[in-house]
Amino acid sequence: MLIKNIGLLAGIVPEGVLRKEGAEQGRVECLENAWLSFENGRITGFGPMESCPAPVNRSDTPEVINAYGALLMPGFCDSHTHIVYAGSRDGEFLDKINGLSYEEIAARGGGILNSSDLLHETPEKELYRQSMVRVKEMMAKGTVAMEIKSGYGLNPEDELKMLRVIRRIRESVPAAVRSTFLGAHAVGRGYTHEAYVQAVIDLIPEAARLADFVDVFCDEGFFTVEDTERILLAAKGLLRPKIHANELAVSGGVQVGVKHGALSVDHLERTTDAEIEALRGSGTMPTMLPGSSFFLGLPYGRAKDYIKAGLGVALASDYNPGSSPSGDMRFVMAQGCIKMRLTPQEAFNAVTLNSAYAMDLSREYGSITVGKRAGLILTTPGWDLTKLAYQYQTPFIRKVFFG
Ligand code: NIG
Ligand code: FE
Repeated sequence: MLIKNIGLLAGIVPEGVLRKEGAEQGRVECLENAWLSFENGRITGFGPMESCPAPVNRSDTPEVINAYGALLMPGFCDSHTHIVYAGSRDGEFLDKINGLSYEEIAARGGGILNSSDLLHETPEKELYRQSMVRVKEMMAKGTVAMEIKSGYGLNPEDELKMLRVIRRIRESVPAAVRSTFLGAHAVGRGYTHEAYVQAVIDLIPEAARLADFVDVFCDEGFFTVEDTERILLAAKGLLRPKIHANELAVSGGVQVGVKHGALSVDHLERTTDAEIEALRGSGTMPTMLPGSSFFLGLPYGRAKDYIKAGLGVALASDYNPGSSPSGDMRFVMAQGCIKMRLTPQEAFNAVTLNSAYAMDLSREYGSITVGKRAGLILTTPGWDLTKLAYQYQTPFIRKVFFG
């Protein structure tokens, strides 16, 4: 496959660069008037149009796409979603409009427990069918790699049901899918807090056969730093952590995540300089979810301060029924610019390479690099990185490639 007359080929990264930090986050290498080729799902070459490869003979003729001067970029990488769920929580949306907070809705038995009840009643096949609608929506919007969490099962049987559904999604779509065991999302019905934490720990060996990562909602009213530490120790060597931290309070979740080698710590709506300090020199990617700040009216994360401190930042959608009912990564990128004052370049790296890193996929996705999977977005003509964020609702996709 050969794509020619690319007006702007954006997101070129040398092999081996797995994330962008500090000033590097603000740099996006581009080539104007370019071509790109791929074969068997992987990028095989790119360069300026003057060097565009000409077919040698008929059997050698590649399928050629004329980009007509448009933008070609890596597809979006969404490192934090909860898109396997049943039904909807639109009733709580009305409670929210009427002034109840996320915590108040949860305390009345709504929130995550409401989704857990719905999931329990929904057969596995039907759960898969409902979830696939969202997966396809995300893919149509340009997401080529995604992470999906369990966490609405909240008992061993239903957590495994969710993880099997995620595996089935992974087997049936061309997008890359990573799976996270988030048993510790809320205390399941019928358990004491202590008994539930133990049940999560007991489930880890079995969950590890289906999942890639482990996550804990380490926040006020949910799980403590001590609970988190116990769960991460039990998962050591089996599942690498990705932690929900500092959404509702300064929770200590960042520090415990860094201590246990978390791949990412996510949310971070509420952080002090101590969290930034804790992340310095670590392999942990701070990941912010502006969609949930938008939907819940929470503060936006201090992305700019993290970058100033020399760190990299990823942005993800958090697509879920309670705090971010959208998987639109282009809107996430725009919010990064509009609400967090990231430059379009910083936001672009946050939704591509850095988000791929946050799910351990940046060897395969997140940039234009020879050898990587051809997960790409070809736009209609007239787009550049600034316009993507600025004119944030105008349709821009001509075609998404999944290798
Ligand atoms: O990332 N914060 C915890 N979990 C989800 C919300 C889940 C829900 O409300 O269903 C989040 O925001
Ligand atoms: Fe989340």
